[in-house]
Amino acid sequence: MRNLVYYVAVSIDGYIADPTGGFDALLAEGDHASVIFGDYADALPAHVHAALGIEAPRTRFDTVIMGWNTLTPALTAGITSPYPHLRQIVASRRRREVDADITLTDDPLDTVRELKREEGLDIWVCGGGELAGTLLPQIDRLVLKRNPVVFGSGIPLFGGVPYGPHAFALTEARSFASGVVIEEYAAHTA
Ligand SMILES: NC(=O)c1ccc[n+]([C@@H]2O[C@H](COP(=O)([O-])OP(=O)(O)OC[C@H]3O[C@@H](n4cnc5c(N)ncnc54)[C@H](OP(=O)(O)O)[C@@H]3O)[C@@H](O)[C@H]2O)c1
Repeated sequence: MRNLVYYVAVSIDGYIADPTGGFDALLAEGDHASVIFGDYADALPAHVHAALGIEAPRTRFDTVIMGWNTLTPALTAGITSPYPHLRQIVASRRRREVDADITLTDDPLDTVRELKREEGLDIWVCGGGELAGTLLPQIDRLVLKRNPVVFGSGIPLFGGVPYGPHAFALTEARSFASGVVIEEYAAHTA
């Protein structure tokens, strides 16, 4: 069965963006980029593929789901369909005008359950924290690009969820000279 994978960059203290939604404090360059541009090239936006002169490999993900606040910076930059090589699903509780490539959902948990019943590659949870909080019960794998920085506050990895331990098993940890550690976890299925 296809997995729901939350692949995201995060600070040491578990924030995916600063309090204003920026992530300048997360490392854009370094030797960990070999993983971002290699293993996870499906999760690069089309304008990055174009800049690098590469095609999406289409071997890891065929679908991305993101919250409205995660799409917003792309829209502000004039990019209405950031991941045209993937099936793009955006969560919003409001009526929104979006590119024809994008499907809106007001019930992302149900959407993910339906997607998991279909055949396909893994489904990427792009973020942000609020959407990830909603989807936490369905997340099969976490791939955290842990950056060597403490934010103190910001947008949490999982937002809006009450205390309740969800156990994950560490399956791999790769550390890089940049200081980034890529941690991979699988959800415990009791
Ligand atoms: N570090 C990274 O790798 C990374 C990756 C992705 C994003 N980010 C950052 O994360 C920040 C955004 O995170 P966020 O937590 O503020 O927001 P988010 O999860 O991206 O978006 C929140 C919005 O999504 C919709 N939504 C979320 N849960 C929903 C649900 N259960 N049902 C229906 N709609 C739902 C709502 O949209 P409406 O308001 O339209 O109803 C909500 O206001 C941005 O700054 C982004 O840059 C960082």
